[in-house]
Amino acid sequence: MISGRRVLLAVTGGVAAYKSALLTRLLVEDGAEVRVILTESAHHFVGPQTFAALTGSAPYTKLFDSDSVSPHTELARWAEVIVVAPATAASLSKMANGLSNDLFSATVLAYTGPVLIAPAMHTEMWEHPATARNMAILEEFGYETVGPESGALAGGDEGVGRVAEPEQIHEALSDLLGTRPDLGRLLVTAGGTREPIDPVRYLGNRSTGKMGHAIANEAAQRGYDVTLVTTSNLHADPAVNLVEVETAEQMLNAVEQVDMDVAIMAAAVADFRPAKKSAHKLSRSEGLDSVELVPNPDILESVVARDKRPLVVGFAAETGDVERAVQKAKRKDVDLLVYNDVTEPGSGFGTDTNRVTFVNRDGSVDPMPLTSKDEVAAQLLDRIAALRSLDS
Ligand SMILES: Cc1cc2nc3c(=O)[nH]c(=O)nc-3n(C[C@H](O)[C@H](O)[C@H](O)COP(=O)(O)O)c2cc1C
Repeated sequence: MISGRRVLLAVTGGVAAYKSALLTRLLVEDGAEVRVILTESAHHFVGPQTFAALTGSAPYTKLFDSDSVSPHTELARWAEVIVVAPATAASLSKMANGLSNDLFSATVLAYTGPVLIAPAMHTEMWEHPATARNMAILEEFGYETVGPESGALAGGDEGVGRVAEPEQIHEALSDLLGTRPDLGRLLVTAGGTREPIDPVRYLGNRSTGKMGHAIANEAAQRGYDVTLVTTSNLHADPAVNLVEVETAEQMLNAVEQVDMDVAIMAAAVADFRPAKKSAHKLSRSEGLDSVELVPNPDILESVVARDKRPLVVGFAAETGDVERAVQKAKRKDVDLLVYNDVTEPGSGFGTDTNRVTFVNRDGSVDPMPLTSKDEVAAQLLDRIAALRSLDS
């Protein structure tokens, strides 16, 4: 259940922080990918080196001056679940009140997935109305809690406030993540590629990535292990493995790294790119009579040509007759083609709706009514499930 899941463990500043080293070991042994945030206070109780040794990478500690330009959003996008253990009274207060003034709180605020908290503090702090109110708010957010227990506390005290044991937290996390059916590995490409002319300008297209992201999110919810190779910065489900690219060549390189059972090629990949990219911004006085273009690699073709060929879905954003799409489906040798006429109202680039026609391998077509892109994603995944069960 935890194997292969991306767990972000936030360790905040209480004596019980040492138990989070044991929790980390349990999660790593269970096959989870674990990243750790240590708050500044947590450093007084446990050392970053301990977590680095347990997870194989240094814990995240700073909002600024780190290698990442935006560590909080990057971590929030990466995580499939956040576990706050131990959760101090201060950290509960930050989360409940939407503070975002350090890496921990900014990451939680930037995060949209499930959160599990394991409070730990003296009984008086736990029973204070401020903490009770913060806990009620966190419950309202849908955050799950494990513990606290009653027992020996720091400084020789006794009472409620003792952090749940690592095994208990591990079990609560398994329950929270639940069992996912293993539907296999699914690739989605999304967005329009941007082919640079110089460091400022590019050749692009109107694709926003909405359709591809909707498919990736729905597929992750259904239990696929999803990799989304995208040029778009739209929302992606925390369970999606996100690879951000700009150009067709970068997209091809990223796709080549992915093992997949199903490939959904929803990106609008530029057919051509400028033969040369100027290293400096071209000025008006330099003039530019023409831009020489060279063909881009055909990413769809590379996937279809794989030795271990996945089930391949192509997309055709066209401005004409569905017959063009039928011919394209044949030529490209795809298992299913999703055709849409981008000139139709409510359909195509940037809209929340789409009117698509599914073009089957035998050349038959199923025109669908205008509906939301989320619904199109669901219908597409239903068709893929049907095609895969025919195969098996
Ligand atoms: C020895 C010691 C032990 C502490 N243990 C706890 C604790 O178990 N729970 C808690 O809520 N605060 C505890 N604190 C207070 C927190 O460290 C303090 O509120 C800190 O600001 C929490 O910061 P953080 O939540 O950003 O990590 C302790 C402080 C000290 C000095």
